[in-house]
Amino acid sequence: MTSQNLDEIYKKISSVVPEIEWKFHAPIIDKINKLKKEKDAVILAHNYQTPEIYHGVADISADSLALALEAEKTDARIIVLCGVHFMAETAKLMNPSKKVLIPDMQAGCSLAESITGADVRMLKEKYPGVPVVSYVNTSADVKAETDICCTSANAVKVVESLGTEKVIFLPDHYLANYVQKNTKVKIISWQGTCMVHEKFTGKEVEDIKKENPGIEVIAHPECPPDVISASDFAGSTSSMVKYVKENQPKKVLLVTECTMSDNVQVENPNVQFIKPCNLCPHMKKITLNKIYDAFSFNVVPRLGKLIANDSESYQYLIESIRKFPSQEKLASLIAEAGFRQVKYRNLTQGVVAMHSGWKV
Ligand code: 13P
Ligand code: SF4
Repeated sequence: MTSQNLDEIYKKISSVVPEIEWKFHAPIIDKINKLKKEKDAVILAHNYQTPEIYHGVADISADSLALALEAEKTDARIIVLCGVHFMAETAKLMNPSKKVLIPDMQAGCSLAESITGADVRMLKEKYPGVPVVSYVNTSADVKAETDICCTSANAVKVVESLGTEKVIFLPDHYLANYVQKNTKVKIISWQGTCMVHEKFTGKEVEDIKKENPGIEVIAHPECPPDVISASDFAGSTSSMVKYVKENQPKKVLLVTECTMSDNVQVENPNVQFIKPCNLCPHMKKITLNKIYDAFSFNVVPRLGKLIANDSESYQYLIESIRKFPSQEKLASLIAEAGFRQVKYRNLTQGVVAMHSGWKV
């Protein structure tokens, strides 16, 4: 990448990334973009990734539905998923022959972690014959027990496509509530919530509206019902992006993870964003350095069919890799950590990182 390209990226994001930070980001963005070409990789980033990832290295930025669809379509040899674990797992499910990397295996999701496959089996016993619709924010273990999967962008459509009187809809209680308001199908819900969206309140939104007359409020359907009622529009993260692009409101409040406002602001310089800040700690685990690490170690932890997953052993493996970046030492550490420490312990945690794949 030429310094001109880097300058162009900075010009784009300078309103949301201070110059002092850019000095640290620029060299690593440059390295990642070179490695990406060299390794025949595509970087898919969720809309909540930070601007230096979203605008600096991502080939495609989107909501979780679009990321899954892009993962299915790509011809690249490697998919680097900058988002949370279930998104990388979904990418692998959509395109099993590709190598899927997630820069931090600890990037979880409160919704995905609220339910296990055993819980779904229990629900199916309680409501025999009622189909199960799972939000994409679930583990592979839960998806395996599911009749059909949806995202916030198509939840109502998917529920109605089943043609039944009732459906079990999980795991997000608030999204279930939103779907219930938009369909006649009876929704049986689970009590999962998103730790980011559940924090918003209708009162907070009403206060912001009073302080900013004429502001347009758009909310993610994972928000509580009083937030949705106080909003002008509710939709998936990509629908929110589209709404701003098409309507160009003078002032807007995106009731969702707050980094997204920065990303959308860059592309809509004439729109003023009011930004109450709730961050997703899981999404924020992904950093440029970790993306670079995912490429640059010759032994790459990757999502694969299996071997194991327990986060302690995985962490041990990763720390070992970080401490000893020499091939020989790595080989022995991986063998040691991989075969002795990493155990096939908890499949409900989902797919699993592992130590196969010596060359990326
Ligand atoms: P979207 O599917 O709308 O991108 O939402 C994913 C997510 O994790 C929202 O918190
Ligand atoms: Fe999960 Fe909420 Fe974070 Fe999205 S914002 S990844 S739903 S915890």
